[in-house]
Amino acid sequence: MRDVAIIGIGMNKWGELWESRIRDLYVESALAAMDDAGVDHVDSMYVGCMSGGLFVGQEHIGALMADYLGQAPVPATRVESACASGGAAVRLGFMEVASGMSDIVLVGGVEKMTDVDGGGATYALATAADQEYEAFHGVTFPALYAMMARAHMAKFGTTREQLAQVAVKNHENGSKNPKAQFPFKVTLEQVINSTAVADPLCLLDCSPVTDGAAAIVLASVETAKRLGKHQIVKITGSGQASASIAYHSRRDLTFLSSTEKAAQAACKMAGCTPSDVDLFEVHDCFSIAEIMVIEALGLVEPGKGGPATMAGATAIGGEFPVNASGGLKAKGHPVGATGVAQVIELTEQLRGDAGARQVKNARKGLAQNMGGTGASATVHILEVE
Ligand code: COA
Repeated sequence: MRDVAIIGIGMNKWGELWESRIRDLYVESALAAMDDAGVDHVDSMYVGCMSGGLFVGQEHIGALMADYLGQAPVPATRVESACASGGAAVRLGFMEVASGMSDIVLVGGVEKMTDVDGGGATYALATAADQEYEAFHGVTFPALYAMMARAHMAKFGTTREQLAQVAVKNHENGSKNPKAQFPFKVTLEQVINSTAVADPLCLLDCSPVTDGAAAIVLASVETAKRLGKHQIVKITGSGQASASIAYHSRRDLTFLSSTEKAAQAACKMAGCTPSDVDLFEVHDCFSIAEIMVIEALGLVEPGKGGPATMAGATAIGGEFPVNASGGLKAKGHPVGATGVAQVIELTEQLRGDAGARQVKNARKGLAQNMGGTGASATVHILEVE
């Protein structure tokens, strides 16, 4: 396998973007990534997108984006793995460059979620759950994660305040991110007293519904050195795993086994452990998710995610900074783009370009992206040379 570098990054400002079409969001981000890389063509494209069909009535996203970007006739494939679509696209692009099959690959992610109303968005997202055993009975994603929160609270004594602290910390970080959908700070009281969504989760425990795109350009390290535009940031590990899609079928309702397995595979490839990593971008689609992810990554013992968050371990400047970007909570969660944007944040951090949210001495980062309640997960490890 060849070493793979991230040579370009680009994303639009995320939010509720009524004036832009899905193709505009994608092209803006892809052109920014190609400009950052200093390339005007790519050999191949992957586009993470969870549900173009249900959100904007558009499938066949790969070819559409290649055409609109002016890159046709390159191979262009849409990748779907629910909210892990972006992470899965990164992994495919990484494999294509590492194998030597292509030299320069554009990996993007896009979702335009606000053209449907709240009910339409909730329905589209719920297609990532088990239709027959979950969605047909009325369960939604906020409800599934609320069950996870209740199970975690019952087993480990995780508190309402600990859940809320995830949102407080991520909004604090997001307030320093000019691309974030909600770049404002919130207090514990505001989170706990925000509108109830699915007990114990309130509005400010939830990631929002977002329009947005993100793109990276991957290339062999030789090409990255020849172009010479940036410090070399490499993907040194990639892992992916799955688990039962229906939450009730899990052996352990309080542990994300696919994240654990994906992290083990990525760390084995990179020759490191999560404790060697300087910063983390993880899938905080709901506040409980971030707590369970840091436990599955082995950064803390099961049940200790809440206390560690409350003690500041996950803050910028803490023992293991998590979601310096603001995470899904404050940055936004255009589902197909999220996994790509996590890699963008880590690349900016490793280049030392993250401005007010820069993590000091960042040399190694880990991105964890998951679909559904953790039925699929991807983990990537990035290192600066
Ligand atoms: N965080 C902070 N503010 C939010 C927000 C969020 N997650 N979601 C909405 N808001 C704000 C809006 O900007 C709006 O503010 P305004 O009144 O100042 O304009 C207000 O709250 C109401 O917004 P609205 O769009 O009417 O909210 P909603 O009740 O329709 O939707 C949720 C709120 C939480 C139900 C929705 O964002 C949601 O479903 N989130 C989860 C998405 C999801 O499941 N993703 C997949 C995860 S696996």
